[in-house]
Amino acid sequence: MAVEVLNCADGVAKTTLSRAHAASWFASREAGPALEIGHCSPPSFPARPDQPVLLSPRDVPRRKPGTPAGRIALLHAVAHIELNAVDLHWDIIARFSDVKMPIGFYDDWVKAADEESKHFNLICECLKDRGSHYGALAAHAGMWRAAEDTAEDFMGRLAVVPMVLEARGLDVTPGMIEIFRKSGEAKAVESLEVIYREEVGHVAYGSKWFNFLCGRHEKDPKVVFHALVRKYFHSTLRPPFNEEKRAEAGLPPDFYWPLTEKLE
Ligand SMILES: [Fe+2]
Ligand SMILES: [Fe+2]
Repeated sequence: MAVEVLNCADGVAKTTLSRAHAASWFASREAGPALEIGHCSPPSFPARPDQPVLLSPRDVPRRKPGTPAGRIALLHAVAHIELNAVDLHWDIIARFSDVKMPIGFYDDWVKAADEESKHFNLICECLKDRGSHYGALAAHAGMWRAAEDTAEDFMGRLAVVPMVLEARGLDVTPGMIEIFRKSGEAKAVESLEVIYREEVGHVAYGSKWFNFLCGRHEKDPKVVFHALVRKYFHSTLRPPFNEEKRAEAGLPPDFYWPLTEKLE
């Protein structure tokens, strides 16, 4: 199921498949013994549509959120992040299937993948209302970098993707909601509020399973987290942090504050 989603290029087809597979997973969980966790080789890069054109971040034009065009660009960037997140969550399921995990691990990431699919569709609706669509603008090419860097490192993947990148989403989403509130765009506000609420869960799944694996290997989570983020994340973390939501997601300050400093 995961590999099928990863190999599907079109955004709408990918998210439709993702939601259908999530529904059958949860239907089987209700019905009795869970579906068997198979083994597979996910693609190094998930299939993506021909549009948007992917550019290096410095070549993606910056637009001011004070204009309607700027807000479309912002929504387009969010749609791109959500589609990437669909792939990231199915990828963690497929890529590390040789490590025996409790069934709840799969429940969490299937649910997260389902939610990302919903997020992509919500934002696509907002784009459509503004006469645009996903693919109309250029997008960031570096989104799969974290997945590539941690393709061989399960704990590294959990540290960098949910606990750094998705946690960053918790820091910046309130500001984005404010932009659309100010411009009186209620549907965009509502959609971003759904995303904001559900993303806390994704970060929480990350810290839950990261702590679980540390416990399994009798390692100190904070020490391991610092080492893995320094190894795989190519920058320091940037405040301000959403300390309240990070706490709700099981990320204490001593995990992220030390990573704001460059090591000599
Ligand atoms: Fe999302
Ligand atoms: Fe997420």
